[in-house]
Amino acid sequence: MSSSPLRRIKEISDYQKIAAGEVIERPASVVKELVENSIDAGATQITINIQNFGKFVIKVIDDGCGIHPDDVEIAFLPHTSNKIRSAMELNDLHSLGFRGEALYSICSISKVELITKTQTDSQGIKIELDGGVVKSVEKTAAVPGTAIKIRDLFYNTPVRYKFLKSDRVELGHITDIISRYVIAYPKINFKLVHNSKPILSSPSSSDHLHAIFDIYGKDYAKNCVKFSYQHDLFEIEGYLGDPKLAQSTSHSSSVFINQRFVVSPTVHEAMKYGYKDYIMLNKHPYYIVFLTMDPAKVDFNIHPTKKVVRFEQEEIVLATLSEVIRAQVNKIFGKTNTTGQLDETVRSPGKTIEQYIQMKEKPSVEPQTSPIESPSNNVSKSTLKPSKSIPSKEKNTKKVSLIAIVPKLLVESPKYTSRDEWIQTKSFPKMRLISESGQLNKVYFVFEGEDGYYILDMHAADERINFEKEQNAYQKGGMRKQRLIVPFTIE
Ligand SMILES: Nc1ncnc2c1ncn2[C@@H]1O[C@H](COP(=O)(O)OP(=O)(O)OP(=O)(O)O)[C@@H](O)[C@H]1O
Ligand SMILES: [Mg+2]
Repeated sequence: MSSSPLRRIKEISDYQKIAAGEVIERPASVVKELVENSIDAGATQITINIQNFGKFVIKVIDDGCGIHPDDVEIAFLPHTSNKIRSAMELNDLHSLGFRGEALYSICSISKVELITKTQTDSQGIKIELDGGVVKSVEKTAAVPGTAIKIRDLFYNTPVRYKFLKSDRVELGHITDIISRYVIAYPKINFKLVHNSKPILSSPSSSDHLHAIFDIYGKDYAKNCVKFSYQHDLFEIEGYLGDPKLAQSTSHSSSVFINQRFVVSPTVHEAMKYGYKDYIMLNKHPYYIVFLTMDPAKVDFNIHPTKKVVRFEQEEIVLATLSEVIRAQVNKIFGKTNTTGQLDETVRSPGKTIEQYIQMKEKPSVEPQTSPIESPSNNVSKSTLKPSKSIPSKEKNTKKVSLIAIVPKLLVESPKYTSRDEWIQTKSFPKMRLISESGQLNKVYFVFEGEDGYYILDMHAADERINFEKEQNAYQKGGMRKQRLIVPFTIE
């Protein structure tokens, strides 16, 4: 993804064909654009320093190729880029940027200071702009790479400033976008510092799974299965989450196409289809997938944010991907036993992640408080608690215990799995499984009772058991905790 330092910045000849427009909605949009520029510049280390939730200062420092001294002013003009020369080159796109628009949009609504130096220049160059107007350009001592500082975002567009959400939400958007790039580029060392406190540091590693552990936690890293598949149209690889990781939103899942984080309803639909026999209709599977395809067959030039994509053969991609995922999901998760547990031989997340988890979980001398949890910080504590851990008042205890008790009986007392045995316990309807395994479509248990049939959703039962476990632990003060590299934000 690196742009050659030898390629100079020029105006894109037919820039009218490029989807441009308002790209800076919030501090996270600035962070995204600047981090993408650093990745395109071939950086191996990217530090993002923000103050006051990105509303006051956003500074991104990289060790990338730097900008040619004669191009520094040109970089802030509209439609100027060293990544493409004309819209034709979109057919062979290998960079995240292509509109030549981001620096121009950012400098129009903020105060900017940029210091840059290429490997070959002996001195660096510093430029300052105020609302898009160049204030000064001078030579300066600098290390190779680029450091860009954005101050007072939206200072000259107060209406847009007013539309920003709460500090906590804005910081959540920033950590969210960085976490996607941490997953996509595990070899880059990312650091995010907020108000002088480090809140994210991703050690450079060659393994996506380490990044998944750091960002989403142990349950995800241990219950993801690596897969890959090659097709004429695309190559796909990534991690498929165990159906028990299914969630009510698809927010934690990520799709990367040619190493760009995208929102693709087509890919999501294919993933849902692939999992349809394993999770409830209103749930979304957990997955991290990387698609690699010929840039001529996928169009990122749909919307100025570059996050929306269109495939040249949308229907073929959907149909093929659906079948590929379905076959993979069946192969990996089809081996469920009656308790719904994954076969160890299939799951095996690998030794390295186990070692990584052990290393990360070693108790340290200092209490492991995330800086973001610190009371001196304005971020509300509620952002730190995963929603699953928050106990709620129980209303229908009888129904709940019915769901929770059955898998326990099946796991703990194998004799109850027999078709002919009645399951009997206090305040519980008398019932037995309809067949030896009692399973329907590997998703439900079916029981016959004296007053009719009972269908039990294994996934929901598993969630219920975990919920009750966590609730008990919470009440006794023994909650399991893991500090995530990026806190979940509950909006
Ligand atoms: N961190 C950086 N390191 C090296 N060059 C950079 C950096 N940031 C910007 N540039 C140069 O400035 C140019 C303009 O950047 P800008 O982000 O505005 O456009 P782009 O990345 O080409 O396209 P897009 O608008 O889609 O991001 C880039 O094409 C690149 O040559
Ligand atoms: Mg850019």
